[in-house]
Amino acid sequence: MTDEKQANEFDHPLAAAMYDQVEGSREDLDHYVAIIDELGARTVIDVGCGTGVLAIRLASSGHSVIGVDPAGHMIAVARAKAGADRVQWVHGTAEDVPDTLGQRKADVAVMTGNVAQVFLIDDAWLSTLRAIREALHPDGHLVFETRIPERRAWEEWAEWGTSVHHVEGVGEVHDRFTLVRVTEPYVTFRSDNTLPDGTVVPSESTLIFRSMPDLERTLAEAGFTISEVRDAADRPGREWVVIARVRA
Ligand SMILES: C[S@@+](CC[C@H](N)C(=O)[O-])C[C@H]1O[C@@H](n2cnc3c(N)ncnc32)[C@H](O)[C@@H]1O
Repeated sequence: MTDEKQANEFDHPLAAAMYDQVEGSREDLDHYVAIIDELGARTVIDVGCGTGVLAIRLASSGHSVIGVDPAGHMIAVARAKAGADRVQWVHGTAEDVPDTLGQRKADVAVMTGNVAQVFLIDDAWLSTLRAIREALHPDGHLVFETRIPERRAWEEWAEWGTSVHHVEGVGEVHDRFTLVRVTEPYVTFRSDNTLPDGTVVPSESTLIFRSMPDLERTLAEAGFTISEVRDAADRPGREWVVIARVRA
């Protein structure tokens, strides 16, 4: 894996340490577990697995799981958790998965927590999708969520202000959120995290809000067909949960 692939805002010790606390109880993942069960999947690839909450949950219920993420600090948090030894962790990107699997193929790949929105240009998105397709069985599925652009979530984000988090090993962290720029389909935002000693750790992110025609086009180019688009039960009307199958 190149350094370029590692460079994202989650690959920071503070971001990784805060992540699970900020994300809370993760009801958003229940939907994925239900879909994976519906599809009867045994082998699952979790692309952008982060701190491994879903990967470990699935492995604990008997699934064979590959968790892949380019942020070494996130993978390190995942690896330290109870049950982490049941998951095959890959510090890398989807492009590293086909080689990791070798002759094996997976039934389902997932991208939870809006990972699909980090691929800002078509080249990166298509390369990820093609690698996932290569790693799946011919009747495999890709399941991911992405925020509905028409819902304009960033207009609510603009009002977030400052939140306080108690981070294990760090103490109280004050997270000041700023919406930096909206140039649809791109939205850039920033978190300035103030540590107990007054140090400020900034973090800036840009996400893409792809339209449904754009998702259909790119998935088709990568060899997938959308079989269903669902609502996210925990965020009704805000997210598309896309279930795509490998095109025959
Ligand atoms: C918001 S977190 C979601 C983590 C996890 N899926 C979850 O639901 O908690 C986004 C994750 O995407 C990962 N990521 C960023 N660029 C990526 C890429 N090119 N390929 C795969 N994952 C990437 C980050 O390292 C981070 O762990």
